[in-house]
Amino acid sequence: MSNTIDNLLHETRRFPPNSEFTAQAIAKPELYAEASANRLGFWADQARELVHWHKPFTRTLDWTNPPFAKWFDDGELNVAYNCLDRHVLAGNGNRVALHWEGEPGDSRSITYAELTAEVKRAANLLTSLGIRAGDRVAIYLPMIPEAVIAMLAVARIGAVHSVVFGGFSAESLRSRIDDADAKLVITADGGWRKGKVSPLKPAVDAALATGETNVGHVLVVKRGDNPVEWTEGRDLWWHEEIAQVDADHTAKAFDAEHPLFILYTSGTTGKPKGILHTSGGYLTQAAFTHKNVFDLHPETDVYWCTADVGWITGHSYLVYGPLANGATQVMYEGTPDAPHPGRWWEIIEKYKVSIFYTAPTAIRSFMKLGRQIPQGFDLSSLRLLGSVGEPINPEAWMWYREVIGGNTAPIVDTWWQTETGAIMISALPGITATKPGSAQVPLPGISIDVLDESGGHVGHGNGGLLVVSEPWPSMLRGIWGDPQRFQETYWDKFGDKYFAGDGARLDEDGEIWLLGRVDDVMNVSGHRLSTAEIESALVAHPLTAEAAVVGAADETTGQAVVAFVIIKESQRDAASRDDIAAILRAHVAEQIGAIARPRQVFVVNELPKTRSGKIMRRLLQDIAEGREIGDTTTLADASVMQIIQDKLN
Ligand code: WTA
Repeated sequence: MSNTIDNLLHETRRFPPNSEFTAQAIAKPELYAEASANRLGFWADQARELVHWHKPFTRTLDWTNPPFAKWFDDGELNVAYNCLDRHVLAGNGNRVALHWEGEPGDSRSITYAELTAEVKRAANLLTSLGIRAGDRVAIYLPMIPEAVIAMLAVARIGAVHSVVFGGFSAESLRSRIDDADAKLVITADGGWRKGKVSPLKPAVDAALATGETNVGHVLVVKRGDNPVEWTEGRDLWWHEEIAQVDADHTAKAFDAEHPLFILYTSGTTGKPKGILHTSGGYLTQAAFTHKNVFDLHPETDVYWCTADVGWITGHSYLVYGPLANGATQVMYEGTPDAPHPGRWWEIIEKYKVSIFYTAPTAIRSFMKLGRQIPQGFDLSSLRLLGSVGEPINPEAWMWYREVIGGNTAPIVDTWWQTETGAIMISALPGITATKPGSAQVPLPGISIDVLDESGGHVGHGNGGLLVVSEPWPSMLRGIWGDPQRFQETYWDKFGDKYFAGDGARLDEDGEIWLLGRVDDVMNVSGHRLSTAEIESALVAHPLTAEAAVVGAADETTGQAVVAFVIIKESQRDAASRDDIAAILRAHVAEQIGAIARPRQVFVVNELPKTRSGKIMRRLLQDIAEGREIGDTTTLADASVMQIIQDKLN
């Protein structure tokens, strides 16, 4: 990214809301006052207003056993009922829920009544396969309506979904199936990507090929029409099974703290964390933020979030938030550039999208292609733009505003995480004067602080560590099967304040600028990757003796994976440096998924280590980013950096 911290702090552009937008805005300035006067009362009001409770709650928050929060815990609800049936019962069954657009140009518009009917059948199908409340179901699907249907059907019967991004490898899928102890996998023959069908079923077959699992069945959606291997007795076609089950299904209520889903995300160790979310608090904050941050007018807006359902953004802002609010949205299967680089803008024109939510990495790649591509389409329906996943540099922010937003649509830069479940820091459109590059202010009802290492507040103009200082409704309830890791990762550093792992700075107005991760987690194209996970994939290869991975600044993807490897003595003559790099890049893609493939692999003879043997990634990052090498005094052997550089030149 081109901006440095100093540039950020000297950013003086301000974009006050225009009066026309403010006049119709959903979010009202009073929200801030109401929430600060009575934070819990504010959330209780939101929960009552936005969610249908089969049994109303009387307790808002139980924080007697931190960090294990309970929200609305004596209430009962059904999350899928909230996203479906209640809209139909309110007379909105004919409203389109999903305008689904396939990559090759096929499309389906599905109303709330139709979506409800499909989810009811799917719920009956899951029950007929023996899935009960509390059981885990792994979902490994492309961006097709069945992904949404499957998630809601699982939720409807009180089972717990674990969606695994379709770009993850068989190994990553298997480790998630094992960790969650899933009983069922829902997949497809494939999905369209970059002009062809990318198969998914082979990865499921490979994942289940060896060792014991509790997976009894694999349900396969037919999307690609490509041939698939079939395991009789285990594999079932979704369309065949769904045709045989009852169409009626009554949603039963579950406790507010009933588990809703597990979603795996990268941490600082090699093993991904299964982030657990529950029902009532999650749905409340997903709906509240979706409505207020995106200024949703459900009768007239067409909303489009480009995230894949395999990530938290897809969970909260493609499934639960928008559907709880009765929104009409676009869901797109493919890549932004298939079959032509204007595909996204064509979709906005076609469906008259009014609210658009995407990631800075996408914006930067469009910037590279030039403004003439979006300018070839009618984007005048857009009235609000959102950004998520990584810091957005002011240059990309301005381009987004001018070229996509026609200089009028407000931009909301939304900071949050898999763990927070929903947006935490963002401007509110129609209220906040926006600043290019800053996520700005905590939402009403959310308490954020920036602390120094010893836990003191940093003043305006200073940087530190981002924390959430009070529990919030959609907070993670734990790491699946690992309460100790939950405690250590997020709560040990600052007591009962949640440590987010992000660096942040307060500007002169006290507004927040996110500065990226402070731990060994990288952010590549808005996807979280762990250095440790990629390092362990690299050392699992027979060529590699040792490996160190860093996230190096990259103009398009924010950060890129750069690996430094030492080759085993016995393998030194096995292949050329270039071949080794290619082999190891492919190996990581196969082990974890293409998103983790290193941009570069450098073969070196040494790695910089401290006297206690810890690899100093900071110095490797200097090399990867082409900077002068920083302070080497704590190295066990200071000549190592010279040796590494000589080898690379
Ligand atoms: C980063 C994605 C700056 C941050 C919703 C966080 C951001 C990690 C922003 C979470 C933003 C997300 N500005 N950084 N607006 N949004 N991040 O779990 O480092 O995939 O910790 O959740 O992305 O990534 P995750």
